[in-house]
Amino acid sequence: MITVREATKEDAALILPFMATVGGESDNLVTDEKGLPFSLGQEEAYLQHKQGSKNNIQLLAFEGNVLVGSAGCDTSSRQRICHGGEIGISVLKAYWNKGVGTLLLSNLVQWARNSETGLRKLSLTVRADNVRAIALYKRFGFVEEGKVKRLLQINGVFYDGITMVLLID
Ligand SMILES: CC(C)(COP(=O)(O)OP(=O)(O)OC[C@H]1O[C@@H](n2cnc3c(N)ncnc32)[C@H](O)[C@@H]1OP(=O)(O)O)[C@@H](O)C(=O)NCCC(=O)NCCS
Repeated sequence: MITVREATKEDAALILPFMATVGGESDNLVTDEKGLPFSLGQEEAYLQHKQGSKNNIQLLAFEGNVLVGSAGCDTSSRQRICHGGEIGISVLKAYWNKGVGTLLLSNLVQWARNSETGLRKLSLTVRADNVRAIALYKRFGFVEEGKVKRLLQINGVFYDGITMVLLID
């Protein structure tokens, strides 16, 4: 059974190796096999900041004690843009197409729609050929907002992206 909960700072030690693994498994993420460019202390501080903030969150999916997926929303504290959250999602390859992404996104969108977050728009940028992720976002009502040239450069090859948005009324 997959369970989803909010990350605490104690999860930093799980998230750093998880991100290096998923980064190595997928050419669709900004993160590669080197993982996040943060120390344990920096990641702990980041998670602590998110937990104490009404419009930022990090959700984790577990099977037993194994971290199998992560989805987050990052929002600026600046008044004029704090209604817009930037989201990201990643699932361990061994768990793709088992509904983990759907479960994480469903929890994330439900949290964002809560009026206390003040969020009125969720945005993400996805590689234009990432059909699996795009299909998932469309099922939750995300629509294409625009095109991004040269979103990623991998082994000297550029990949374009699209930005997708979900407006919250
Ligand atoms: C994208 C990602 C988060 C999806 O997570 P997931 O757990 O595999 O997603 P789910 O199993 O909940 O749903 C996948 C859906 O896509 C569908 N799908 C799978 N392959 C597909 C394809 N080639 N074309 C269209 N849809 C596809 C599945 O049928 C499923 O739909 P369904 O639930 O209606 O059957 C996961 O593949 C991942 O982490 N990929 C690498 C990182 C990444 O791309 N992150 C997004 C960056 S923006």
